[in-house]
Amino acid sequence: MRLLVVGGSWFVGRAVVADAARRGWEVTVFNRGLSGTTAPGVRLIRGDWERPKDLKDLSAQGPWDVVLDVAGAVPALVRNVARAVADSAPRYVYMSTISVYRHWPHKPVDESSPLWDGDPDLDPGSRSWDPDAYGPLKAGCELAVRREFADRALFIRPHVILGPGEYVGRLPWWLRRIRRGGHVLAPAPASRSIQPVDVRDVARFTLGMIEKNAVGVYNLAAPPGRDTYGGMLQACQDVTGSAAKIIWVDEWWLAGRGVSEWTEIPIWRTLPTAWQMSAYKAQAEGFVCRPLRETVAATWEWMEAGGTAVRHERLAQHGLSPEREARLLSEWRVGRTAL
Ligand SMILES: NC(=O)c1ccc[n+]([C@@H]2O[C@H](COP(=O)([O-])OP(=O)(O)OC[C@H]3O[C@@H](n4cnc5c(N)ncnc54)[C@H](OP(=O)(O)O)[C@@H]3O)[C@@H](O)[C@H]2O)c1
Repeated sequence: MRLLVVGGSWFVGRAVVADAARRGWEVTVFNRGLSGTTAPGVRLIRGDWERPKDLKDLSAQGPWDVVLDVAGAVPALVRNVARAVADSAPRYVYMSTISVYRHWPHKPVDESSPLWDGDPDLDPGSRSWDPDAYGPLKAGCELAVRREFADRALFIRPHVILGPGEYVGRLPWWLRRIRRGGHVLAPAPASRSIQPVDVRDVARFTLGMIEKNAVGVYNLAAPPGRDTYGGMLQACQDVTGSAAKIIWVDEWWLAGRGVSEWTEIPIWRTLPTAWQMSAYKAQAEGFVCRPLRETVAATWEWMEAGGTAVRHERLAQHGLSPEREARLLSEWRVGRTAL
């Protein structure tokens, strides 16, 4: 299989490239060669998807059996890449996201749920991370790919992705925090079901579907009700060998004090519907999401082995500062004592 990966060197792309190389595929990646790493044996075509000349050069370097855009998030740029390779590959795969669903996290979602209105030709100008723009932009990217490849396109929409190489910094923050020990603030209830998906399972499913010549849309998430927030933190304690004491604090009390869901306390969402993504369609095609405990262990192993993620602007947004955590814990205790 001749696979061209657009991006391919940070997190999801790196996992995809590693898996494809293990399968003996002929893998080419297209990126600027500025950040991240390219696995040995993988052909790197250096180029910037913002530059028409680089895309013209790319189109001359095919053919490929399939192109997989892991990284694109600006519709007009995703369109330009897809257009550039349209004559060099019969099929196209786009790595999308749960955020394309208009009603997520307020309602459960499956593949038929309504999407944001996207504009396939939009370029907002800014390249900075904007959580409010992200979903509509990715929806626009899907439309751009659909317009160029019609029914020859496959779309993967994962829930939050964790695992070795994660640069957003969600699970690494939790692992470091619990390793540091002491009293650790956590958002109750510990029994909350969560659905992160392991990056290696995203890669395995995507490549498996490429092997099957599959097209269409597939959600990827852990089975609802299997993994819990408390289980994730317990796994963090187990793998780090930490004697930290987890203090479960009412989540509405935290929300009332302006603690930011998802970022200040990573992977925390108060809405139970945030964790009601259906991935049954993918499961029927053989998708298996390993238990979160294994993702936690592999991520810690990677960190302990000196693994460093690519530096990303989103990293700084994650985690409570030690001072704020101590202040919140002390206010929580005072409130409890007064009861
Ligand atoms: N993280 C999550 O929880 C989550 C959840 C659901 C979906 N997703 C989706 O998963 C994907 C995550 O991808 P990733 O960041 O891990 O992908 P990746 O393909 O591993 O890394 C991003 C790549 O883009 C390249 N790149 C950046 N700017 C470029 C440019 N102007 N021209 C050419 N190449 C450029 C980077 O290399 P250079 O800098 O060297 O160019 C790098 O290779 C995204 O599509 C995201 O929407 C993520």
